[in-house]
Amino acid sequence: MSSSPIYILGIESSCDDTSAAVISNDKILSNYIANQEIHRQYGGVVPELASRNHQENIVPVVHQALRTANIQKEQLSAIAYTRGPGLLGSLLVGSSFAKGLAMSLNIPLIEVNHMQAHVLAHFIDGSNILENQPKLSFPFLCLTVSGGHTQIVLVKNYFDFTIVGETIDDAAGEAYDKLSKMLGLEYPGGPIIDKYAQQGNATKFQFPKPLMPNFDFTFSGLKTSVLYFIQKESKTNPNFITENMYDICASFQHTVVSSLLHQLEKAAKEFQVKNMCIAGGVSANSSLRKELQHIGIKNNWNIYIPQMQYCTDNAAMIAIVGYYKFLEKEFTHHSIPSVSKFSDF
Ligand code: KG4
Ligand code: ZN
Repeated sequence: MSSSPIYILGIESSCDDTSAAVISNDKILSNYIANQEIHRQYGGVVPELASRNHQENIVPVVHQALRTANIQKEQLSAIAYTRGPGLLGSLLVGSSFAKGLAMSLNIPLIEVNHMQAHVLAHFIDGSNILENQPKLSFPFLCLTVSGGHTQIVLVKNYFDFTIVGETIDDAAGEAYDKLSKMLGLEYPGGPIIDKYAQQGNATKFQFPKPLMPNFDFTFSGLKTSVLYFIQKESKTNPNFITENMYDICASFQHTVVSSLLHQLEKAAKEFQVKNMCIAGGVSANSSLRKELQHIGIKNNWNIYIPQMQYCTDNAAMIAIVGYYKFLEKEFTHHSIPSVSKFSDF
């Protein structure tokens, strides 16, 4: 006898994307994301504008997610929302809405750690783009690379996470965003640099590969060395950046991706893990996705690469964590505050 499905509404508002998703057990029925274009003109996210935009977006975005899923709000089993980490003003919009709706429907509220959600997005049915891989099983390593974090996480169970390495300064996505600014390109920098890198020569310029002795990362030195390099070259050739844009992007991307995968390969050996995942906004990167598959074949790893819609911030990943917490009856009291820094998993 099959029991009726669990329907979870997920709400994500940690940074500049307002997102709502509906999940039926581990299957996504809708995943709606409103991107905030307003930040582009400022070259980065303006927190006050982000929270005001979340306030405008949250009701239509939730409506749209329910409508696409063809689910009435009365059918929901619980509401999962991002508690942190993120921008406090942005988090408060999502959490207040989630709390109000859960209270009015008299259903459980479930807090979710945003970074854990990036990782557990791999349990969304059909998330892996590689169809020939076995279903993801524990233990696995996840390289979580976003605008605010760069971590290698050892995952032994849904809620047993150990960070084995992380950045000691800039996150990988932050390095992309800063390079983009230096080159006079838009925010966020990752997608545009990735696009230009695909048309450039990755070995044209040699930037120092940032390597740490353990499983940590560092990207601020790379950013500074690229800055000094383009400043020096621009003195003799004022058109240096425009003439070499593709090759600068390709050489930078090659350096970042090889540094990320070098550390992941070391961690895989140390922890004797064969299941390898990538997650977070930078996991949308074409070179990281391609190179991971190459080293995966070499090392005989099982590889898990999320569909694009589950890489950058989205509420589907919040809903899947909600589903696993619902099974454990891990519910949240309405008095729990949002937190901008959230290191506990
Ligand atoms: O996970 P995410 O959407 O938000 C955070 O939680 O930070 O990640 C956003 C980051 C930005 O820094 C953006 O530049 C980067 O992901 N990003 C990329 C690509 N697409 C987005 N970085 C490299 N290559 C991409 N294709
Ligand atoms: Zn994120």
